[in-house]
Amino acid sequence: MDFSLTEEHIMIRDAAREFAQNELLPGVIERDEKQHFPDSLVKKMANLGFMGIMVNPKYGGSGMDTISYVLVMEELSKVDASAAVIVSVNNSLVCYGLEAFGSEYQKQKYLTKLATGELIGAFCLSEPEAGSDATSQKTSAIDKGDYYLLNGTKNWITNGGRADVYLVIAQTDKEKGSHGINAFIVEKGMKGFHVGPKENKLGIRGSDTHTLQFNDVKVPKENRIGDDGFGFKFAMKTLSGGRIGIAAQALGIAQGAYELALKYSKERKTFGTEISNHQAIAFKLADMHTEISAARHLVMKSAWDKDQGKNYDTSSAMAKLYASKVAMKQTVEAVQIFGGNGFVKDYHVERLMRDAKITQIYEGTSEIQKIVISRSILKE
Ligand code: CAA
Repeated sequence: MDFSLTEEHIMIRDAAREFAQNELLPGVIERDEKQHFPDSLVKKMANLGFMGIMVNPKYGGSGMDTISYVLVMEELSKVDASAAVIVSVNNSLVCYGLEAFGSEYQKQKYLTKLATGELIGAFCLSEPEAGSDATSQKTSAIDKGDYYLLNGTKNWITNGGRADVYLVIAQTDKEKGSHGINAFIVEKGMKGFHVGPKENKLGIRGSDTHTLQFNDVKVPKENRIGDDGFGFKFAMKTLSGGRIGIAAQALGIAQGAYELALKYSKERKTFGTEISNHQAIAFKLADMHTEISAARHLVMKSAWDKDQGKNYDTSSAMAKLYASKVAMKQTVEAVQIFGGNGFVKDYHVERLMRDAKITQIYEGTSEIQKIVISRSILKE
């Protein structure tokens, strides 16, 4: 067992850390307040290779492993969880989905541009009545010979307004249940595709979340991903990797809040001494450090499982379940350590606390992760 990072891992981690500190940090409070998407920063992240970290270089990616992806996600999330989710969705839901299951035509046409960040991707599974219950898709795609006719509504879509390429899950044969679902590549600009209003969110406010509408959109047959009926398995397999990304985002949010609280506790004085000298604060820091380290082990183990070609459905669910719980709990503690200052925006911890909440909800709620984990241990 070897817990050390390679030189390549350290290089990419340090590049992400430097970028987060120098480029993401300066405008992060304003972007959160105004719900501004970081367009120019996404271009810079693309230049650093962060939009297609794990994609094979022959398709324009950086050709790195999942551990590298997790390291980048943690560093970005420590400072700006909104920028991090833009990277996460593009990498683990869209690029991975196309590289693992797309046709060569789809890879050449879409993946090569998504991996370089020339195009941005979105993953469209959730609907008004199909969030956790993902097989209950109401969006339909009717086979019309050389195209599918797509109709329906998708909700809470990350990168919804900014994306160019959308992977849309839809029902093609209701009678067949989860086997009658397919995944399609839809381009912005296709006739009948409308981007609806932007959501006004509690957290990750710098990311772009929209409702999407499809009214008689003609999707060419060559844009279906995989064999007929593969769409639900496509979504599940892709989301397992996505959950590693969100677990790493949660880890970064927790670590970012912890580092701020640690520094503050050595500067702020009460009762004639730095607050870190009070056991009430020191014990909070001890708990934060311990739980965050435990979360990091679960996240890294799941990334390692994926890199080793092992099954990572359960380990990714465990990593996301635990890391998101730690992120929520420990960002609340960080605000507590900051006291009154924690409640105002300038000190960053209140934003990290708001950002933490979504990690318990998207890419499968904590309750869904428990379904995945319990089913896997009960069938053993
Ligand atoms: N890999 C391969 N196949 C899988 C699978 C996996 N990980 N998980 C399930 N399947 C297969 C099953 O084997 C089954 O196939 P067979 O019929 O051939 O046996 C089929 O899929 C149906 O599976 P279930 O019976 O287990 O389906 P279910 O209705 O009980 O649902 C669930 C399972 C785990 C609860 C699933 O619905 C789920 O994960 N829900 C949450 C969805 C989710 O994560 N939504 C988030 C939206 S995306 C997002 O947030 C993106 C963003 O923008 C940030």
